[in-house]
Amino acid sequence: MAKPAPDDNYRQSYLPFVNVEQFRAKAKSLLPWSVYAFYSTGATDEVTLKENQRAFTRLLFKWRCLRGVSGVNLQTTVQGDTIGSPVCVAPASLQGLAHPGGEVSMARACAASNTLMTLSTMSSCSLEDVAECAADSPSPKWFQLYTLTDREITRRLVQRAEKSGYKALVMTIDLPRVGIRYVGDQAFKFPPFASLPNFSDLHRDPSTKVSSSSISSRSAPDKPLEIVLDRIITWDDVAWLKSITKLPIIVKGVMSAEDATEALRRGVSGIWVSNHGARQLDSTAATIEVLPEVVHAVNDRAEVYVDGGVRNGGDVLKALALGARAVFVGRPALWGLACNGEAGVSQVLELLNKELELTVIHGIVWMSICA
Ligand code: FNR
Repeated sequence: MAKPAPDDNYRQSYLPFVNVEQFRAKAKSLLPWSVYAFYSTGATDEVTLKENQRAFTRLLFKWRCLRGVSGVNLQTTVQGDTIGSPVCVAPASLQGLAHPGGEVSMARACAASNTLMTLSTMSSCSLEDVAECAADSPSPKWFQLYTLTDREITRRLVQRAEKSGYKALVMTIDLPRVGIRYVGDQAFKFPPFASLPNFSDLHRDPSTKVSSSSISSRSAPDKPLEIVLDRIITWDDVAWLKSITKLPIIVKGVMSAEDATEALRRGVSGIWVSNHGARQLDSTAATIEVLPEVVHAVNDRAEVYVDGGVRNGGDVLKALALGARAVFVGRPALWGLACNGEAGVSQVLELLNKELELTVIHGIVWMSICA
């Protein structure tokens, strides 16, 4: 009998998975506890972690029948680029811990699904390798940028992202410090700085303020981000970033109409409603609850995106109905990657898209909010 193709193995193992939750459970059984804890946990008591998902369940669809929906086209555009579906992948650090293919496998899966991937500054694969692995795909990639104390290193990251063909810069603004994560911090020690390839030139250049020797002499080597991260960025830094690049800038971590307005004043092209997957400040509102006020404040002057707690196609449609241009998933994509690398991510995206399509087909016209 012929040996099954890898794809058949994948289908045998993972096709029965009917939802993202089953991917999560399988990933939990496969990953070392410390890695699962790093990926899955939220800040302090995880109030917001639960709320991000719960808030979606409080939004209920109003269902209208006999509307003759014959088919659904999920295609949309983000920053002018066409993508096959509004379900996109959020930046998440250290994907090599989930699967040896890391962000390269993630990027290939996104390219195969013709969707957008955002690469984290703190990736396990270099931004160049990720750009090259799916260079012939028309689906765009964005680069997520942390603003570092040394602006020259930050500027160099921006230049490398531009040169590699990333289509936008996602400036994460919700991380003045790494959040307190009781379980995650206890279980997980960040790998040494040297294993973060986007910083490889930093190690080679002794003139940079943050050198490998200064890193190793610090007292918290388990949190390299804390060492290089600029702790006091302000809205002026958004303007600074805009002054050094022609790429569209999207600010990620907006949780109020006021901040959305501040961002628009600095000429950003996109507002990404996010609470960092509830990993930063606990007891903030769920992102889906904040989305309407941000959409209202932005008033079509920029695209608005959202992430946080999206676990099925219905959640995606709720976010779209409330005005999001696209919806990002963080952990669901990580669970797919952990279960089966590129194929696992593809399966998760396929699942979410199928669910979205079927939800739309039911002829939903609006939602009511259940108290
Ligand atoms: C993240 N997130 C994140 N965000 C960012 O801007 N840069 C980063 O490096 C990371 N790293 C990261 C690691 C891990 C393990 C997780 C789970 C998340 C936040 C991420 O982009 C996104 O905002 C959330 O993950 C969305 O919430 P869900 O979909 O995970 O519920």
